[in-house]
Amino acid sequence: MQELQAPFIDTDFLVIGSGIAGLTFALGVADAGRVVLVTKKEDSESNTNYAQGGIAAVFGLDDSYDLHIQDTLRAGAGLCNEQAVTMMVEQGPKLVERLIEIGVEFSKEKAIRGAGRLSLGREGGHSRSRIVHAGDLTGREIERALLAKIQSMSSITVLENHLAVDLIVDQSKPGRCFGAYVLDRLENEIKSVAARATLLAAGGTGRGYLHTTNPPIATGDGIAMAFRAGASVANMEFVQFHPTTLFGHHVDDRAFLISEAVRGEGAVLKTKDGETFMERYHESGGLAPRDTVARAIDSELKRRGDEFVLLDLSPIGRGRIRERFPLIYGTSLSFGIDVTREPIPVVPGAHYCCGGIRADLDGHTDIEGLYACGECACTGVHGANRLASNSLLEALVSADRASGIARTKAFERDTPSAVPVYPLRQRDEVEAVVVAHNREETRRLMWDYVGIVRTDELLDRAMRRISDLKEEVAEIYRRWPLSLESIELRSVATVAELVARCAIDRKESRGLHWNEDHLDLDDKRWKRDSVIEGEARLPVWLPS
Ligand code: FAD
Ligand code: SIN
Repeated sequence: MQELQAPFIDTDFLVIGSGIAGLTFALGVADAGRVVLVTKKEDSESNTNYAQGGIAAVFGLDDSYDLHIQDTLRAGAGLCNEQAVTMMVEQGPKLVERLIEIGVEFSKEKAIRGAGRLSLGREGGHSRSRIVHAGDLTGREIERALLAKIQSMSSITVLENHLAVDLIVDQSKPGRCFGAYVLDRLENEIKSVAARATLLAAGGTGRGYLHTTNPPIATGDGIAMAFRAGASVANMEFVQFHPTTLFGHHVDDRAFLISEAVRGEGAVLKTKDGETFMERYHESGGLAPRDTVARAIDSELKRRGDEFVLLDLSPIGRGRIRERFPLIYGTSLSFGIDVTREPIPVVPGAHYCCGGIRADLDGHTDIEGLYACGECACTGVHGANRLASNSLLEALVSADRASGIARTKAFERDTPSAVPVYPLRQRDEVEAVVVAHNREETRRLMWDYVGIVRTDELLDRAMRRISDLKEEVAEIYRRWPLSLESIELRSVATVAELVARCAIDRKESRGLHWNEDHLDLDDKRWKRDSVIEGEARLPVWLPS
């Protein structure tokens, strides 16, 4: 029999995450009820904050919805949900305009600055220039404006340093969600937050790999939490590696991204001795879809035994580089590289999770009362490979749609008057080094064994190690007092297992999943999502 207690916080909407998805949803429901938004560090810390290239949307005079849809479907290698793609593309421009109304200052065309025409960048896989951006600081500008708007809304309470640990769900099938248990990191206590509707917008999983463009928050907590609560996940094998991150220097423990937009402006990939190579891999050269470019670089590095390839920005021109890419210019310069004069050494890094919690574009998951939007969700939009700059767009459209539904549906149900006390751990001494070691080991094995190019043997090795790690993590989790580190380790290990399981199952090469032992596409067996049913483990809420 579980001990029950009144919820610590009672609200109408609980939002987990303060990236573009969480903030958009919170604004969408703010006039319908009380909103509590929890975020595990400072409010702006998110993948969104580091987005460089921009947000894809049809504004160009030579562009059309159909072209954007076709580009998205082509990149997705047969696995996109065409209906979801169409909705996303068609609703994109209106929502980008709404961002502008909220106060986001996107870059304008120089010739008619102030006249309102957006500057549109070009990225890999796009047949037209359609990337709306704010220089190369697009994400920071979006976060700034959305957070300013959020702060002006009295119905929204933002709780920083509040880490969601587990969802509060009952045992019905399919389950029902009534909020989440949240660790207040400053007070070091678990709070139960009861809500009529809960949104998971906890972002990506990049920190599960050794080299990643993602900031430390991206440990897949949302996916792991939903999976434990019984929600199914899909397409976890499709991990996107960005082709170009700065080699040899990290910024705050992140591989520093060199935006694909630089190739869109004319930058060229070369081997160390100055030879171009992308024309040997794809007719679109350096503007081929991202999976192709990342694999081409991986292949050149292996073939030549080099540690990096070069990205030559000189065709863009000195003035234009400084104007269009101030972040890349300034950051590289801080490492002694003047990108206007010398090529940048680059290598691929884990970047984006195309899989996630199975959801539709309205955010519905398998669990009633639980919505998922943004990078932690798998809505079918990206299929086997996300088209560049479609993720901010997907998060924006999906969170907006979900808020439109949740604002009514939430009031068709109540919040519980009592929830079980979260099972607290005993405070046995476990060295912090054990947590750190397991985390690093998981990240390294994912990089080495479940990386850009996979084989059956590497995947089997990965799975054996992950099984051992899983037991260790469970042991640590049972004994160790809850902390950011132990919770994140559990998430990283769960995500590793989900990625490896999906990768082992898919006996073909498609999109981002490339297995040297199964090089052919197998449409007959594999033109479908890889789905793993949720676990429905404790803690659960047992309605009396
Ligand atoms: P995020 O923005 O990552 O937000 C997740 C939030 O959840 C964060 O606030 C985090 O702190 C919080 N959180 C996580 N776990 C918990 C927990 N347990 N409890 C409480 N809070 C939690 N996409 C594009 O379309 N265009 C680009 O140009 C682009 N450039 C990129 C550049 C970089 C360097 C990176 C890393 C990604 C880029 N992407 C780009 C991808 C894009 O930024 C993300 O997919 C998108 O921002 C995800 O938004 P989100 O709201 O789903 O998640
Ligand atoms: C980039 O600027 O290259 C990143 C774009 C993206 O991830 O969509």
